[in-house]
Amino acid sequence: MKRIFSGMQPTSQLHLGNYLGALKNWVDLQKENDAERLFCVVDLHAVTMPYDHKQLSQATLEIAAAYIAAGIDPKKSILFVQSHAPEHSQLMWLLATMAQMGKLERMTQFKDKAGKNTERVGLGLFAYPVLMAADILAYKATHVPVGEDQKQHLELTRDLASTFNTRYGVDFFPQPEPVIAGPAPRVMSLRDGTSKMSKSADSDMTRINLIDTPDMISKKIKKAKTDSDPMPETLEELEGRPEAMNLVTIYAALAGIPKEEVVRQYAGQMFGSFKPALIDVAVNHLAPITNRMNELLENKDQIEDALREGAVKARKISSPILAEVQKIMGFTK
Ligand code: TYM
Repeated sequence: MKRIFSGMQPTSQLHLGNYLGALKNWVDLQKENDAERLFCVVDLHAVTMPYDHKQLSQATLEIAAAYIAAGIDPKKSILFVQSHAPEHSQLMWLLATMAQMGKLERMTQFKDKAGKNTERVGLGLFAYPVLMAADILAYKATHVPVGEDQKQHLELTRDLASTFNTRYGVDFFPQPEPVIAGPAPRVMSLRDGTSKMSKSADSDMTRINLIDTPDMISKKIKKAKTDSDPMPETLEELEGRPEAMNLVTIYAALAGIPKEEVVRQYAGQMFGSFKPALIDVAVNHLAPITNRMNELLENKDQIEDALREGAVKARKISSPILAEVQKIMGFTK
């Protein structure tokens, strides 16, 4: 059976990249009847970088609210918090014994986050991809819908799954498939079309957050970097114009139409006149999600109940899998 697993870190508010690269696709995947789905708020991952411990549990609730507001239905998908299922951390240790330092050192996300300071960064940041592998393998997940930036981590997960199988002579873990099928698998910064939209960028003007008001969305899009050429006739002609391409990609993803169509519709117009149309599309799409999120956060008990139930369901799957791993590794008979 198809088992889908994915997660997001409660490091700060979700942005349009998280939504268009992953979350929107998770919602679409709920239409598949023959699949089981688990969507997790990965709070253990969020503490690998400096964070505000007074805000962590609130940030976790906000991400869960964003999942539900975007359309994740706790009746159709198992919605839970990573730290509520201790199997993840337990399996992580077991997998850590099989993870090679050299491979972890090559992880781009680690290199980006550690910067030049590799001697001083925490072990948690270094081992981050092993915990991610444990998240996925604790459920023997077969499909992992993510944005493009997670591809390398998934390769490591696949690698660890086969190392385990080979080392213990079993055919236990499946090879989880990355599903990079969101409407925009790589949304770029509004200020620099060559770097991805991210929670960690210093300026909030680089990203659209799911909690932004229509005014903020409008201001950010108006100030988004573009160039002085008009919209071309074909999509190919947008090559080499990363900021323009990014805005077209965002429009297409939010409007649910192909990029070619956007280019055709606005061909010959300057970006100054394209931007108001993009603002309309963005506000119309995002405002209902933002409103729903705010409503949900007014009644936190409801979210907390859903998360508690989700953790029970998740552990029903991961606990026997962990027990099986412990048996294979010789801890139990
Ligand atoms: P995180 O929290 O950084 O991002 C959550 C999801 O959003 C996608 N994403 C983007 N997609 C398109 N354009 C962007 N600019 C953009 N920025 C982020 C990410 O690809 C991701 O799908 N390591 C993961 C969390 C994680 C996880 C897991 C995911 C932990 N365990 C197990 C899947 C399965 C992360 O940091 O995502």
